[in-house]
Amino acid sequence: MALDTSKIAVKKLDRMMAEMELARLAAEIAEHDKLYHQDDAPRISDADYDALRRRNTEIEARFPDLAREDSPTKKVGAAPAGRFAKVRHAKPMLSLDNAFDPEDVDGFFTRVRRFLDLPTNTAVEIVAEPKIDGLSISLRYEKGRFVQGATRGDGVEGEDVTPNLRTIKDIPQRLTGDVPDVIDIRGEIYMLREDFLALNEARVKADEPVFANPRNSAAGSLRQIDSSVTASRPLRFFAYTMGEASGPVGKTHWEFLQNLKAWGFQVNPKAKRCASAEEALAFYNAIGAERAALPYDIDGVVYKVNRFDWQDQLGMVSRAPRWAIAHKFPAEQAQTKLNEITIQVGRTGVLTPVANLEPITVGGVVVSRATLHNEDEIARKDIRVGDTVVIQRAGDVIPQVVSVVLEKRPKGSKPYDFPDRCPACGSLAIREEGEVAKRCTGGLICPAQRSERLRHFVSRVAFNIDGLGEERLQLFLDKGVIEGPADIFTLRTRDGKQAAPLAEWDGWGPQSALKLFQAIDDRRRVSFERFIYALGIHQVGEATAKLLARRYGTLDAWRAAMITAAQERKANPDESKKPEKIGPEFAALCDIAGIGLNMADDIAGFFAEKHNLDALNALEKAGVEVEPVEIVQAPADSPVAGKTVVFTGTLQTRTRQAAEAQAEKLGAKVAGSVSKKTGYVVIGADAGSKADKAKALGVAILTEDEWLKLIGET
Ligand code: IVH
Repeated sequence: MALDTSKIAVKKLDRMMAEMELARLAAEIAEHDKLYHQDDAPRISDADYDALRRRNTEIEARFPDLAREDSPTKKVGAAPAGRFAKVRHAKPMLSLDNAFDPEDVDGFFTRVRRFLDLPTNTAVEIVAEPKIDGLSISLRYEKGRFVQGATRGDGVEGEDVTPNLRTIKDIPQRLTGDVPDVIDIRGEIYMLREDFLALNEARVKADEPVFANPRNSAAGSLRQIDSSVTASRPLRFFAYTMGEASGPVGKTHWEFLQNLKAWGFQVNPKAKRCASAEEALAFYNAIGAERAALPYDIDGVVYKVNRFDWQDQLGMVSRAPRWAIAHKFPAEQAQTKLNEITIQVGRTGVLTPVANLEPITVGGVVVSRATLHNEDEIARKDIRVGDTVVIQRAGDVIPQVVSVVLEKRPKGSKPYDFPDRCPACGSLAIREEGEVAKRCTGGLICPAQRSERLRHFVSRVAFNIDGLGEERLQLFLDKGVIEGPADIFTLRTRDGKQAAPLAEWDGWGPQSALKLFQAIDDRRRVSFERFIYALGIHQVGEATAKLLARRYGTLDAWRAAMITAAQERKANPDESKKPEKIGPEFAALCDIAGIGLNMADDIAGFFAEKHNLDALNALEKAGVEVEPVEIVQAPADSPVAGKTVVFTGTLQTRTRQAAEAQAEKLGAKVAGSVSKKTGYVVIGADAGSKADKAKALGVAILTEDEWLKLIGET
């Protein structure tokens, strides 16, 4: 077994272990950065994330020469996700170093004085401001007009979200007063807690996934392709710093804040000048006491050296200015008893352990349940029923179990035994290689998955049946009139009779029944890709559904091919590496760019289950019609058919996505990383390591022009 370096104390690491651990941390932190910045779906708390970064910094401090090129200390956030045009910030958008206790804050003041060569008794005035838990953006104003706005991205390049920012009322389109000709105003986009809760409530009603916290909700709302969606979300903005500026903006940060207000921006009214570290700490404590009562989430206080001339002298180091520091609040924690661990079964059959707690108030909210994530997490923290546990809310609605208070562990307690069977249907629960989750294999026969799967089936992106939301669906399930998806389409008439005497039920009348039947009829004909997505096959999201639809064209063709693929797979369970050795149909499935072996296994696996085939037949019998799609086939003379192509860097003539889609249309396989099998690497501006790797491997490298020539575009 490989050595697990993650639990070894920093001071005990030898050189080799440190190298391994730095590599592991770089990958793990990058993954969390992506989850946080691009997917708006963080998986760990800010405190856990900070701990990972701190560990990385500490190891680098011990072994400076081992610091990696891709070290988290050299990066801010994650690179932009690619849906929006990129914007290069005129000045990089920095991050802040963190202080966790008064000593760290003292250290900050000491460093500032030392750097400025000031005697220890010189007062260093700072401005203290609440640290808003939102997302930072940069707004460019030219001659007082708002011209462009971008997210932070990786600090160097962000995403152009100008049209979306124009919908936010706190962002002035025109500035008033004496403003430099060119200025980048920076600050935080956030959402009020009450607005976040109302939005989530509406999302539950509309059968849409809820946001975990106001921050994710603000980020998700800002990064919308359709700006009318952003316009419908109550986003707000506080201005607090600047990027490039062509003229003076004040002599101090405080003056600058007053100017911001005069120009038309919202500035946090709590910002305060402090003459000393003691005053700064008093401010921190006061804001901390007020924290739960504030209408928005904050995760600390930012201290900024007030004098701009001092800020200029202090400059920055790696990713953060020397003139500012974020004094973080500890996550809101409490201790309580873990009464029971229950297992929830999700739509795709994932078994999620949930801690049922003795109710307790944390950060102003009564908590009685917390997520335990998965089997490994329980084992790692050795969480047992009856334990007293420390729980914490890190801005999220659902709290986490941080640790066990071992001194309070009752005698005779036993480690938790994670079940092997699904609590909802009794089917075997298995854990696939490389996955953390255990999954029920019961599919549509599992009642837990049934309601989730049906909910998914009728959801907006799938069959999109109006008037069949969560509540009504549950009612039909409870009454036993719907068991599988096909039953939805026989609600009006089943075996010659009305399946559900709706008009006789409480709260229903002939009108509402008719309306629902009509809504169902309207959706009896469905596009092939919606149909595929609706099936809820593990790993098959909208994008994959589209790929499958375009490749197979009709439900019949797809089903026949997948049944064969499933048989091929069954006959060759061990050939886990090479699809072509498994069989032609299975290989053809894996051949679709974007579908790997693992996903192919899930798709073929769906067709290996009789109950799924029955469900498909039943849908057709109930009158569901799947519209065929034109099969997208590469032209016979395509010069790139079958070749694997990697695009890297910024293209000039089209977005990377458009270029990739075009390559796929021409029969090329688009990949994300370079290997010996890569046919071409197409490099745009600022291409990085992928171009280097292509060179090293002797893979053909094309400029954008050469690529366009190759595919006959110029
Ligand atoms: S100043 C160069 N002030 O915290 C310094 N940042 O951890 C730029 N933040 O990226 C940041 N409230 O997203 C500053 N009053 C405030 C802030 C604040 C929230 C965020 C911001 C920044 C992050 C750094």
